[in-house]
Amino acid sequence: MVTVDEMAAFCKRKGFVFPSAEIHENLAGFYDYGPLGIEMKRNIKNLWWRSVVQNKENVVGIDGAIISPESVWKASGHVESFVDIVGYCKKCKKKIKLDKHEIGIAKCPNCGILYENNGEFNPMFETTVGAVKEESKKVYLRPETAQMIFVNFKNILDTSRVKLPFGIAQIGKAFRNEISPRNFLFRMREFEQMELEFFVHPQKLNDCPNFDEVKNVKINVLTADQQENNDQETTQMTINDLFSNKLIRTKWHAYWIGLRYKWFLDIGINPDKLRLREHTKDELSHYSMETWDIEYNYPFGWKELEGIANRTDFDLKQHIKYSKKDLYYFDTETNEKIIPYVVAEPSVGVDRIFLTLLFDSYTEEEVNGEKRIVLKLHPLIAPYKVAVFPLVKKDGLDKKAKEVFDILKKEFNCFYDESGSIGRRYRRMDEIGTKSTVTIDYQTLEDDSVTLRDRDSMKQIRVDIKDLIITIRKFLNGKKLENLGKIIKKE
Ligand code: GAP
Repeated sequence: MVTVDEMAAFCKRKGFVFPSAEIHENLAGFYDYGPLGIEMKRNIKNLWWRSVVQNKENVVGIDGAIISPESVWKASGHVESFVDIVGYCKKCKKKIKLDKHEIGIAKCPNCGILYENNGEFNPMFETTVGAVKEESKKVYLRPETAQMIFVNFKNILDTSRVKLPFGIAQIGKAFRNEISPRNFLFRMREFEQMELEFFVHPQKLNDCPNFDEVKNVKINVLTADQQENNDQETTQMTINDLFSNKLIRTKWHAYWIGLRYKWFLDIGINPDKLRLREHTKDELSHYSMETWDIEYNYPFGWKELEGIANRTDFDLKQHIKYSKKDLYYFDTETNEKIIPYVVAEPSVGVDRIFLTLLFDSYTEEEVNGEKRIVLKLHPLIAPYKVAVFPLVKKDGLDKKAKEVFDILKKEFNCFYDESGSIGRRYRRMDEIGTKSTVTIDYQTLEDDSVTLRDRDSMKQIRVDIKDLIITIRKFLNGKKLENLGKIIKKE
């Protein structure tokens, strides 16, 4: 696997991600997405939205504001409890975020001396709203998108005809003044989250009719008990095992964990590099009674990719207390006012998924004595689905290739390139993960057929232009090239 610095350099070289404002002064933890990055990031977000909102009959979406008044963050507990401990190396002035168990034992890797405990630090960015200083209000940039869901709970009840159990989802920016942003897109100060709050009747936490969808998903599990006994060996279990053995305490929570774990497998992540780790008691956030993290084995070790917490009725209760507004749900079956439970909050960073997919798909191979870099991305994730090339830029091949490009671009996100050797153009597409390439050659002018090349096997078949869209669609949906036509060539 490449190192994180090599990955950052690759992303800059190919136009995926750039350090932000680099021509002035790059602030650590801020990045800009380039032409390829923005396509891939949008694909990730669309797939998530499709999976958790559009494919569900009981989940709706919102898009909340980034800045909100102080009382929101007092209610959520972030003003008081969202604190990091700053470790400080007296010698090299390096600052890090110390976990509780690291206080008094963590050593600076540069100097070998103990980090000093420099006290607590709240990573929320604060600013003011209002033009007149005396009247201006203290506000915060949201450190998580979740709170916009809770503050809109009543608006959703009043307008969306939702009935328990139901979910509210959101994708948007979040901001944390991280003490030591690091590992490229892994820990940033400005990042994007995709979060879902799933509300359930407090007496029906196990009434989950959808459970069968996920009960057989196979998961590598590391429990809190194991960690307390210094055992790091994962055990493979199904979601059904996890719930029946009371490791995950509620069925709806187990359902969402299964669904999210499966989503990562479905977008092509190597199952051996994924695991599900339970939070130990002293790691639980102030709002959580049970949290499980989906972790990935990065070049810098196993780290959180997504957290799925059981937030209980903590947030709605707090917002009722601080806003003094009625945020109850009226249960028409029992004629009771209740406060629903957020039994599962799947919460994940878009940038972190992006980085994970790059690490997981990046491969270097040797082909005919030369190094070939391939991003073996799932076609739905890759920035481009199809590339269209004329074999050479003359004899009418380029004109024909443009015609084919015009047909295909209505269906797929396509890339057109006509300059440089065909081999170099194939390599450039391999490097950015384009699964299929269509080449227009001299035979095209005779019989209206083109070649279709597979990024991974480098094999090619011939396809009539009239069948191209349907053939590419089948290919991108997972059908093997050899099942779509006779292999005519391999590099
Ligand atoms: N609402 C719950 C919440 O925000 P979290 O574990 O602090 O929980 C959820 O964050 C997810 O957001 C993480 O699993 C990670 O994917 C992403 N995330 C958190 N902090 C991040 C950061 N500084 N940079 C990039 N992604 C981050």
